[in-house]
Amino acid sequence: MRALLLTRYGGPDVAELHDVPRPEAGPDDVLVRVRAAGLNPVDFKTRQGMLKPVQRYSLPVVMGNELAGTVEACGRGVTRFAAGDRVFARMPKGAMGALAEYAAVPQDALAHMPATLDFAAAAGIPLAGLTALQALRDELKLMPGSRVFIPGGAGGVGTFAIQIAKWLGAEVTTTASPRGRALVERLGADTVIDYTAQRFEDHVRDMDGAFDLLGGETLEKCFGVVKRGGTVVSVAGMPEPLTARKDLGRGPLLTALFWIASYRLRAQAAKNGVTYRYLFMHPSGAELAELAALVDDGKLAPVIDRTFPFAEVAQAFAYLESGRAKGKVVVNIQD
Ligand SMILES: NC(=O)c1ccc[n+]([C@@H]2O[C@H](COP(=O)([O-])OP(=O)(O)OC[C@H]3O[C@@H](n4cnc5c(N)ncnc54)[C@H](OP(=O)(O)O)[C@@H]3O)[C@@H](O)[C@H]2O)c1
Repeated sequence: MRALLLTRYGGPDVAELHDVPRPEAGPDDVLVRVRAAGLNPVDFKTRQGMLKPVQRYSLPVVMGNELAGTVEACGRGVTRFAAGDRVFARMPKGAMGALAEYAAVPQDALAHMPATLDFAAAAGIPLAGLTALQALRDELKLMPGSRVFIPGGAGGVGTFAIQIAKWLGAEVTTTASPRGRALVERLGADTVIDYTAQRFEDHVRDMDGAFDLLGGETLEKCFGVVKRGGTVVSVAGMPEPLTARKDLGRGPLLTALFWIASYRLRAQAAKNGVTYRYLFMHPSGAELAELAALVDDGKLAPVIDRTFPFAEVAQAFAYLESGRAKGKVVVNIQD
């Protein structure tokens, strides 16, 4: 089968299409005929070797973290899926393998895709959709009337975050450039700050929580816009001790490393009376089924910016890496 293979860490040329054997499905796995795979910044960060401290792969490895397709075959222990089912998944951490004609997916990571979507639209949901759900509902615990700040609302995660925050009943303030304004307004953002013309820290205050998608200076400024007792959840800043213990299930060594690495950020947060949390999202078929139900109920819709044929996967990566995507970038594996 054709697959995008990472042979060493580096620039765009280290990931290429190759013919490789089909993956073997274990007893609890579903062999999926992949129709479309979503791209995420984690894909190029992995290729660059940036994530080696938390996630090492033995190379060569098939890339890709999320997919939609049809069930080709099921392992003996698989109870919830049957051949021909239309499914989608965020691949398990440490596995990848979505950018290929076939992928073996543990049934726990898999769900039936929304009935109302095609494969390309469904493939754009799992990683960014689960990240937004876990950050806003489980970490920030948004509820009706909560006020949340989401810097970077026009991208892959942001477009889900705005919709999920609105579904939870929150009031949403976000940032976007003029290129993204119409999109974030259509998704339900109550207040939009043009980050190319205004400093959000001059206009945003007393938020119950913030969901940072940009890291760096933006994250640091988020501590000043959340009221005392609130929380700033980031997926783009520096991991902290809970990231190691809760999200990665790792021991005291990585916990201590993250304690040191996040010390300055946690101190800044504490000075402002807020809590800093770095979330490393987790795959979950059960939570994906919740997202599918939201889509079929008309409460959530993936925003697909561009789709590319598999032969142009390098161009798809380059487009995502430009940092300008509006919603998701998806690769059609088989038409
Ligand atoms: N920890 C985890 O589990 C986890 C999970 C998912 C994602 N992430 C991370 O979360 C980050 C966001 O991911 P993504 O998929 O949303 O990325 P993305 O789709 O590439 O984000 C691109 C968007 O960001 C906007 N943007 C860029 N600079 C901005 C700024 N200064 N202010 C406001 N908006 C800005 C761009 O809008 P304009 O073109 O209009 O500027 C564009 O629409 C990445 O770092 C990713 O690795 C982490």
